[in-house]
Amino acid sequence: MAKTFDVVVIGGGPGGYVAAIRAGQLGLSVACAESEPYADPKGEPRLGGTCLNVGCIPSKALLQSSENYHLLHDGFAQHGISVTDAKIDIATMLGRKNKIVGQFTSGIKGLFKKYKVTFLPGHGRFVAAGGAGWQLDVGGEAVEAKHVIVATGSRARTLPGLPVDNDVISDNVGALDFASVPKRLGIIGSGVIGLELGSVWKRLGAEVVILEALPTFLGACDEAVAKEAWRVFTKKQGLDIRLGCKIGTVLRSAAGVTVAYEQDGKAETLEVERLIVSVGRVPNTDGLGAEAVGLKVDARGFIEVDAHCRTTLPDVYAVGDVVRGPMLAHKAMEEGVMVAEIIAGQAGHVNLDTVPWVIYTSPEIAWVGKTEQQLKAEGVSYRTGQIPFLANGRAMGLGDTTGFVKMLADAATDRILGVHIIAAHASELISEAVVAMEFSASSEDLARIVHAHPTLSEVMHEAALAVDKRSLHF
Ligand code: FAD
Ligand code: NAI
Repeated sequence: MAKTFDVVVIGGGPGGYVAAIRAGQLGLSVACAESEPYADPKGEPRLGGTCLNVGCIPSKALLQSSENYHLLHDGFAQHGISVTDAKIDIATMLGRKNKIVGQFTSGIKGLFKKYKVTFLPGHGRFVAAGGAGWQLDVGGEAVEAKHVIVATGSRARTLPGLPVDNDVISDNVGALDFASVPKRLGIIGSGVIGLELGSVWKRLGAEVVILEALPTFLGACDEAVAKEAWRVFTKKQGLDIRLGCKIGTVLRSAAGVTVAYEQDGKAETLEVERLIVSVGRVPNTDGLGAEAVGLKVDARGFIEVDAHCRTTLPDVYAVGDVVRGPMLAHKAMEEGVMVAEIIAGQAGHVNLDTVPWVIYTSPEIAWVGKTEQQLKAEGVSYRTGQIPFLANGRAMGLGDTTGFVKMLADAATDRILGVHIIAAHASELISEAVVAMEFSASSEDLARIVHAHPTLSEVMHEAALAVDKRSLHF
């Protein structure tokens, strides 16, 4: 007889495992299917999805290790600290990263036990409507569910004629595991992964060349931030970013890879030891049995959902990277919580307009809400406050005064419409702006809040004051 649950979640990434935990907390009988290919020491699939295994967590571990190494070489001298003969041991760095991944992924199995979530190792797919509601197959076993949450996530997009072996030509998976620092590293795509992983290997000594198809850099960011990022990454840090590139043939050679490309109508070639392909991600809907039950999937492979992540089928929901909206772990997790609460009869809510973005380069880039170019295109009247970290006491003490906070507020109502930061610790600073926007605060509200001194957050305060042209320290 088929095992039956109130809720079966397909996919154990941030969207899926969080949905399962919340459903368990709410007293629902819940199971989570996961077919992750990277088995843990017990031979079971690991939980945590892209984020914990080959995304957010390992990349941030490497970003920190490489930043520490870089500071030892180039950042600490201004503090009077010098080290001769500083070395990096790549195996130790990768071992630390793998240990962090192992701790987090096994920690989720512990949380599943705590919240009575049944773990179903194996590939999950729809078979038919009926039984308790939906009949599924997980790794060859029949399972029935009253409600299904699809959280199958995404995988790296590939380019035709460019097979990824995760050795010489890598997507995010191989790029987190290079056993040595390549002398010359090529990257296709100057998006979030290209910049983060490019920074890791550049700081460790690789010469990094990034080939980007678009003629503009970081088009999703506010233009002022993109311009400052371009200056810092190319002029100060030496990342060689080439825009407007059309990739041609890619050939393997004894030395690595040769990429033929065209830039400004001119044929060029790039020879590198290793190549990372980071040209976006595609949703995982293959093999899900969507067609067997009539689950609607759009032309790009995303499952169609409404604002509450309801699919076109009754009692079937989809969350995270497999649906519209930003492909971010925190967005996936909040959608997971929302859906579990809706299934339990509560009101669920996720505001996609206040989902923050962070790029963990140095300086970090973080933003929430609209960019100035979006407001212009929408014909919204706005006021701007922009304050650099140059005059901030804490930034001076840290020895890093790069960047600024830019705040955009509605000209008529003063409601904050967007906040854009490029600076050290921008990832932490953005939370204040998210809270402010979630509660429809005005720049005047933020200007009247006491900010501790000396902190980086004082620049947010000054930017709010600057919207009204009354900044005090700049
Ligand atoms: P996933 O994490 O992709 O999880 C889906 C899971 O479902 C996978 O484990 C998969 O094996 C499983 N699965 C798929 N199909 C089936 C099936 N049929 N049956 C059973 N299991 C199945 N986001 C951030 O917010 N911050 C960051 O710093 C960040 N850094 C990143 C760095 C990199 C290098 C990458 C690649 C991504 C990063 N992301 C980051 C994005 C983040 O990882 C994703 O947005 C997030 O993991 C999406 O969660 P998800 O649960 O929707 O999907
Ligand atoms: P991306 O969408 O951020 O960037 C892809 C880049 O590749 C774009 O600039 C695009 O113009 C370029 N490109 C596309 N086709 C190309 C081609 N044929 N030749 C050259 N350039 C080409 O995608 P990326 O970097 O792969 O990351 C995927 C997603 O993962 C991100 O969008 C984000 O959702 C998530 N992510 C989030 C992180 C974070 O939150 N810090 C970190 C890493 C990934």
